[in-house]
Amino acid sequence: MEPTADRYRIIVACLGNICRSPIAEAVLADRLARAGLSDRVTVESAGTSGWHVGSNADPRAQATMTNAGYTHHHSARQFDPDWLTSGDLVLGMDQDNVEDLRALSPDGDAEGVVRIFRSFDPQLMHLPEDDPALAVPDPYYGDAEGFTEVLEMIEQAADGIVDHVRLELG
Ligand code: 4NP
Repeated sequence: MEPTADRYRIIVACLGNICRSPIAEAVLADRLARAGLSDRVTVESAGTSGWHVGSNADPRAQATMTNAGYTHHHSARQFDPDWLTSGDLVLGMDQDNVEDLRALSPDGDAEGVVRIFRSFDPQLMHLPEDDPALAVPDPYYGDAEGFTEVLEMIEQAADGIVDHVRLELG
């Protein structure tokens, strides 16, 4: 769904926007729909790099989403620094993503809007955001199993993100 000013805007970002963040976008869209929040919240994804702009998700990511029953269609985009202002919640999949996203803020004030995705996992939310256990690891150079693990990590955090958004919406 296209973002509009009156909707809460979530943007999930990884490095290439072909593996982790497209999966996170599909899972969050599903959870928000189940929570009845689709008309108030938009979710999109992007890459901190522009390496794969215009590409569909990696075939392994597509297979992982399809096998798990998620609807998906994708064209990779590079994160636009303006989205640090227009976005309400920008979620990096690992600490490098978070650092790269915050560095796009000219006055370094993106601390609050940029968060690491797994910090919303109820079992991990006690960890400091720089704890390596909070990373959704890059599966690109690995095997199909890595994509299944990525999906599981994303699913475990997704409901926590929905709860957070619900509180923010009031
Ligand atoms: P993603 O994975 O950041 O989860 O989309 C990657 C995709 C491509 C590359 C690295 C990570 N790459 O080096 O091209």
